[in-house]
Amino acid sequence: MAAAISSMQKLYALHGPSRSGALISPLVQVSSTALSIQSSRLRFGASFRTRLSSLGSSGGGSKLRGCVGRSTSTGVSGSTTSGEKGLRELISKAAMAVPAVHEAWLYYEYGPAKEVLKLEEIAVPEVKPDQVLVKVKAAAINPVDYKRRTGYVTLNSPFPIVPGYDCAGVVVKVGDAASKFKVGDEVYGMTSESPVAHPKQWGTLAPYTACEDKFLALKPKNLSFEEAASLPLAILTATEGLQKAGCEAGKTVLVLGGAGGVGTHVIQVAKHVLKAAHVTATGSAHKTDFLKSLGADEVIDYHTVDYTEKPERYDIIYDTVGEGPTKGLKVMKDGGVLVSIATRDPTYRHVVAASSEVLEMLNPYLDNGAIKAIIDPKGKFKFSEVLQAFEYLETGRATGKVVIAPIA
Ligand SMILES: NC(=O)c1ccc[n+]([C@@H]2O[C@H](COP(=O)([O-])OP(=O)(O)OC[C@H]3O[C@@H](n4cnc5c(N)ncnc54)[C@H](OP(=O)(O)O)[C@@H]3O)[C@@H](O)[C@H]2O)c1
Repeated sequence: MAAAISSMQKLYALHGPSRSGALISPLVQVSSTALSIQSSRLRFGASFRTRLSSLGSSGGGSKLRGCVGRSTSTGVSGSTTSGEKGLRELISKAAMAVPAVHEAWLYYEYGPAKEVLKLEEIAVPEVKPDQVLVKVKAAAINPVDYKRRTGYVTLNSPFPIVPGYDCAGVVVKVGDAASKFKVGDEVYGMTSESPVAHPKQWGTLAPYTACEDKFLALKPKNLSFEEAASLPLAILTATEGLQKAGCEAGKTVLVLGGAGGVGTHVIQVAKHVLKAAHVTATGSAHKTDFLKSLGADEVIDYHTVDYTEKPERYDIIYDTVGEGPTKGLKVMKDGGVLVSIATRDPTYRHVVAASSEVLEMLNPYLDNGAIKAIIDPKGKFKFSEVLQAFEYLETGRATGKVVIAPIA
């Protein structure tokens, strides 16, 4: 029995107290081997029960701001649990143990990242009935994060705001009405229904984030958490926009801004999923080989060539840089379609919506490598380096995505 308890104790990884004494990351690691422990007559001693109970306790909260702090409980009482069923219940309940507080990036006012974005202790979000709580392993940042932080998003949530829409991580708690996932599932997704119209107050630049299960999909098995986190907002924007434009086999597509977070996926999805006949992308000359490796048939260096002076006309113009309604329309075929994600003109504007169905449709292409997660060579930043990550993203020169990992 001592050996069994010892192996059980190894399952519970405490990472030490925060500055205020709160447990920062007492995420319980439950492995499948634990579930196979034969324990029909197992009894747990008092010290083990005490240790389990301590998983849910928190001495933090002195610096809590923005939402009400609360203590958590593992749901493990002091009573003795016996038998394999009891062990399973114990593991299941203990796996839901989360800290009351975590250190998240947040801001209380609009402004530049260096002035307003801070790493602060705050309550872990409550989980609504249709939500799951995700232990965030990796997140990604998008231009909408800095546009929102500077006041561009008019339909905003209250302050403070934890930025971040993209995440990949592990489900650690399941709401009463959320049936899609179980504790331990590895998931990814865009956690706000719409980054502009319905932005969540508590985003993904935090160790834990709460999200409706309908917005999340199982992480493609062959992708790392970082790769998965780089995808949701960008690949959803790309795919939904192409679908709206009627992209299908035989169509010709011009991608204005092929090298960005969205553009790299427009090229891949148009070519490898929707089977466009020909994909042209604009980008800097030194990115030509890279864009061709994604599936672009032709790359136009927008610094030196004016594509409106070329004879080619396209069925679909996918604009990620904002010039679609002016220059792009000049090279559209009669009956063609322009979608722009960088204009406010409602005639052409396409806005992303969270959709696990689209991610699930794409998962096989991601798993077999037909579509690749594109992380900028300089674009992986630690959780402590979020300010530098925004500084880099805001240059507008990133190739693919900027990701934040690992997240403590
Ligand atoms: N409406 C929506 O739902 C939605 C969703 C996602 C994004 N967006 C918006 O769409 C825009 C693009 O997002 P993103 O994540 O792809 O941004 P991003 O990753 O920051 O885009 C950077 C890329 O844009 C390229 N680029 C810049 N100016 C260009 C130009 N004139 N011609 C061709 N390429 C150019 C750069 O390539 P070079 O280094 O070669 O210049 C760089 O690789 C942003 O304004 C974002 O807010 C909207």
